[in-house]
Amino acid sequence: MQTIRQLPALRAAIAALKQDGGRVAFVPTMGALHEGHLTLVREARRQADHVVASIFVNPTQFGPNEDLDAYPRREAEDAALLAGEGAALLWAPDAATMYPQGHATKISVSGLDSVLCGAARPGHFDGVATVVAKLFNQVNPDLALFGEKDWQQLAIIRRMATDCDFALEIAGVPTVREADGLAMSSRNAYLSPDQRRAAAALPRALNAASLAIAAGADVPDTLGRAKQMLLSSGFGSIDYFDLRDGSTLADSAICHPGARLFVAARIGTTRLIDNVAVGQEIPGAGQG
Ligand code: PAJ
Repeated sequence: MQTIRQLPALRAAIAALKQDGGRVAFVPTMGALHEGHLTLVREARRQADHVVASIFVNPTQFGPNEDLDAYPRREAEDAALLAGEGAALLWAPDAATMYPQGHATKISVSGLDSVLCGAARPGHFDGVATVVAKLFNQVNPDLALFGEKDWQQLAIIRRMATDCDFALEIAGVPTVREADGLAMSSRNAYLSPDQRRAAAALPRALNAASLAIAAGADVPDTLGRAKQMLLSSGFGSIDYFDLRDGSTLADSAICHPGARLFVAARIGTTRLIDNVAVGQEIPGAGQG
């Protein structure tokens, strides 16, 4: 696997990959790779002939008080993992290559970006949409894969790709979880052992609410109980615990086809997010 840091070299390598007429799949990441990321790479290999991955800790999607500096960086280990999964190429530009002097363009996906994580993280999804649009133009893949763990991000990227006429397919990949149901995330590494144990309440609350609402329970009551459960299990605050439409992200107090539950909550200083379709059971999250 080649690691490439400059755009002209990337374009040449992609042209060489495409010479055999094979399909190129792209998996964008911010590194600190775990089984969730590697599942995207495996799915990419299944659906295409060549896999390109990127690692870029994108400064424009971090707020001023967020964890840009603390975000884990371990490119050498990540590169070895990607090579082991059969990726053909790693695109790892630095910030000056991605955002050269004078860079002034921003992509906003209005509406979808102002709810859920967008409300708590102003500008975050502009940063995501802009860097993903640039990555799509740089890599020029036939297919790009994103995790359903970041459901709002996936909805925004789908909208952006449609609106901007990107000629590529976008695939969502189901959330990969730990044995106790906690969604894998690079940010789980911030949790102390006690916090990590307590964090299992997040998928448990989501699972309980998902099954209760599917069985006809009152939505506001169920969401209230789920929030209480998180607060009594060691979470310090809850940004949201909402029932929303999976496509439009519109808030809803009643269950409907396509409804999903979305949660973001803080344990210590670490913010964890998760989501599930109503009625879908989260493996490992049933106990307690
Ligand atoms: P990052 O958080 O590194 O995630 C890269 C990809 O892995 C995203 O599509 C994310 O949804 C997926 N992913 C993370 N954890 C997952 C899990 N437990 N199961 C399944 N998929 C999972 O998301 C980003 O980076 C950035 O915002 C990016 C799109 C790269 C733009 O900078």
